[in-house]
Amino acid sequence: MDTTLTESAAAPGAAADTANADTPGGPDGGAALYRARRERVLAALRAQGGGVALVPTAPEVMRNRDADYPYRHDSYFYYLTGFTEPEALLVLDANADENQPASILFCRAKNVERETWEGLRFGPDGAREAFGFDAAFPIDDLDAQIPRLIANRPALHYALAASERFDAQVRGWIDAVRAQTRSGVTAPAAAYDLLPLLDDMRLVKDAHELDTMRRAAKISALAHIRAMQTCRPGMREYEIEAELLYTFRKYGAQAPAYGSIVAAGANACVLHYPAGNAVAREGDLILIDAACELNGYAADITRTFPASGRFTSAQREIYDIVLAAQQAAVNATRAGVNFEAPHDAAVRVLAQGLLDTGILDRQRFASVDDVIAERAYARFYMHRTGHWLGMDVHDVGDYRERGAQHAGETPPWRTLRAGMTLTIEPGLYIRAAEDVPERYWDIGIRIEDDAIVTETGCELITRGVPVNADEIESLMQDAQRGA
Ligand code: GLY
Ligand code: MN
Ligand code: MN
Repeated sequence: MDTTLTESAAAPGAAADTANADTPGGPDGGAALYRARRERVLAALRAQGGGVALVPTAPEVMRNRDADYPYRHDSYFYYLTGFTEPEALLVLDANADENQPASILFCRAKNVERETWEGLRFGPDGAREAFGFDAAFPIDDLDAQIPRLIANRPALHYALAASERFDAQVRGWIDAVRAQTRSGVTAPAAAYDLLPLLDDMRLVKDAHELDTMRRAAKISALAHIRAMQTCRPGMREYEIEAELLYTFRKYGAQAPAYGSIVAAGANACVLHYPAGNAVAREGDLILIDAACELNGYAADITRTFPASGRFTSAQREIYDIVLAAQQAAVNATRAGVNFEAPHDAAVRVLAQGLLDTGILDRQRFASVDDVIAERAYARFYMHRTGHWLGMDVHDVGDYRERGAQHAGETPPWRTLRAGMTLTIEPGLYIRAAEDVPERYWDIGIRIEDDAIVTETGCELITRGVPVNADEIESLMQDAQRGA
């Protein structure tokens, strides 16, 4: 197994391209990529009768007193711009004629003093050139420019009711246009939610996105390997977490994609348990659900392994059931099937395993179909088998088909298409209880990999870290022997 990450494999240097204050570059992947996405949005808006789209980036958020949380751009805004500075807004004008700008950025003005403290700002001119906009203005000109840009346009398109602050800003801009109606100006007569269009675009990843996700997956897999190799009974959960965080940054990832779960022993039965102070004891399983964000894209990996490097027989039984459930879900993942197919496949294997082990009473359930019909497995498997993955760890996109043909009824589950990316993450969580065989008490196991849907199946991009129990044991034992 390749447990090293070479320059060519992960291109760590590339991760920092857009964040290097000394040598500002353009967007990751090149300006043409983002321009093409903006053109797709403009074409879709023209087909809907025109109007102006407004896409703000995320606000900066105060952590305490004058210290901010690390800044993270808005995913929609980034998807259409590649621009990562705070205080920015994209305007797409689907009614612009040939001589007018259709793709307009508002961003922070150049400011020598602020740049001395905070680092380089592109400024409107620099950003227009590097990121390929038709025009750019300082963010301080928003209230002067937006009413002019939305006047005489039929509609607005933005994330309706997603942010009170932005809703209020839009209202102010519409009011400013209405104030001029006696001069013959018309205000937009309708507002539409822009997000369904962007969600559908984001759901199917392009080659650049898939490449970035493969790299995020590879770095995250290395972090899990390092955690397995360094874990010893007696370590605390946060010490294991430190090995993960070290690896993310070491290979150029900007941040964890979500709060790391490092759960020792019974803590693994708490689904969103954050890494805490608990000691990993001999005989405990360690469940780690952690992955990095690289250039705006998330990975999402879970592995469960024995602190000592050897599964007990009861742990191994449950582990192999979850692994078989995951394999069944993997086998059910391909273009043309619906989103629910991998979940159904995993549930069937888990339900059978719960009967075989006697965790579910074989006297009470005649067959696996009964277990499924009564949802008796849900006491031990209470989450779904996967979710979309992309810029957001629980990425955007409907899980059901939308459209007029389904009005008034529950639409069918979404059909998978090549280029969609999702997790496959079955688990079993067995709390201590009188009616459960004691040998399985407090075992919590999840196995999670990231998949790119292909025409004939799926590509698992997180298998840089072993998943088979024998392979995990030998990786850990090699490390313990110093091999
Ligand atoms: N890490 C969050 C999840 O697995 O859904
Ligand atoms: Mn997940
Ligand atoms: Mn996860």
